[in-house]
Amino acid sequence: MLNGKRILLIIGGGIAAFKALELIRLIRKAGGAVTPVVTRAGQEFVTPLSASALAADKVYSDLFDLTDEAEMGHIELSRSADLIVVAPATADLIAKMAGGQANDLASTVLMATDTPVLIAPAMNVRMWLHPANQRNIATLESDGIARIGPDEGDMACGEFGPGRMAEPQAILEEILARLATGPLAGKHIVVTSGPTHEPIDPVRYIANRSSGAQGTAIAEALVRLGAKVTFVTGPATAPLPNGVEVIPVETAQQMLKVVEVSMPADAAIFAAAVADWHVTKEAKGKIKKDKSGQPPALKLAENPDILATIARKRKDRPKLVIGFAAETDDVIANATAKRKRKRCDWIVANDVSPETGIMGGDENAVTIIDAKGAESWPRASKRDVARRLAERIAETLS
Ligand code: CTP
Repeated sequence: MLNGKRILLIIGGGIAAFKALELIRLIRKAGGAVTPVVTRAGQEFVTPLSASALAADKVYSDLFDLTDEAEMGHIELSRSADLIVVAPATADLIAKMAGGQANDLASTVLMATDTPVLIAPAMNVRMWLHPANQRNIATLESDGIARIGPDEGDMACGEFGPGRMAEPQAILEEILARLATGPLAGKHIVVTSGPTHEPIDPVRYIANRSSGAQGTAIAEALVRLGAKVTFVTGPATAPLPNGVEVIPVETAQQMLKVVEVSMPADAAIFAAAVADWHVTKEAKGKIKKDKSGQPPALKLAENPDILATIARKRKDRPKLVIGFAAETDDVIANATAKRKRKRCDWIVANDVSPETGIMGGDENAVTIIDAKGAESWPRASKRDVARRLAERIAETLS
């Protein structure tokens, strides 16, 4: 629930603006309060009166409204909320945010705030895919602006593709994930995820098939229970989790460094499929074919074991260190041995034989191995496995 939390909702000018009214209703139903800011273009789609009636609050729309400034200046307005949500975030609003413009109330509030911001983009598919918009989105991502959507589907303009605003219910869940207090509130948890890429030369690398889906699901489940999550990920294909600090890395050695500087943590979960080896000497230039037809010989060296390094550490060892074991034979026996060898508290073991469809798939069937023994969970979606794991972690850390 959102008891006592205030959301400043900026409604931009797009056909999806009507969904913002439903969002106001849902936030209030969840116990939150909403202060709407409707941009000039937004007013072409929703009337300030309807936003105000649903929010049961004053609607702000103009930067130079002296009555507003006397009641609550734009600086104060920007800081009075627990979260600022921009829905719909139009291409224009996104460009203003990325460029640091402050020429109307919405953009000025966004520039003046130190409150977390969540945007729900909505625009035509071509606009969404336009390099300028993609550049702006990348800028906002690196500025720490959270984003939900856009979804893919039929659009009001008759085209199909990414650009539809996320559904109000999904936006509400995202808000809940950020603001709801939970059993993991105040806990810091580091999660590694995805594959690592080990370079051979500037254009080639050694990789594996991990999608990062389980890591993303775990990070999101932890956030939903209130944890602060640092997400250290190799080049994954699964979407990044929302509401977490994402630190992208390429290689196992980079991943270890980032994990070490991310300490201290209450728990660390090693869901990454770290490459076991790296090429000893990465070629400076692209390796060319030998005229004799002789293929190049790659010399490999073992990568540092990130899980074992953190689990062994004395000083700032997290209270709970969790490893994964991706096995194809004797899953429980191998994973139990791995737990001992790597000195972690739990191992989440799974069978990644190709016929299980687990690696790269949507489901997982895991066995949790701890000091007491093995507990097998029924096959479920990676999201459900993550939720159950997060609950078990919350119980253990409380
Ligand atoms: N792991 C790690 N650093 C590595 C290798 C693995 O942190 N260099 C972590 C993984 O994130 C996972 C666990 O160790 O949590 C087990 O990884 P796995 O690849 O299944 O086991 P290996 O250590 O590679 O053992 P083996 O190859 O014998 O199965």
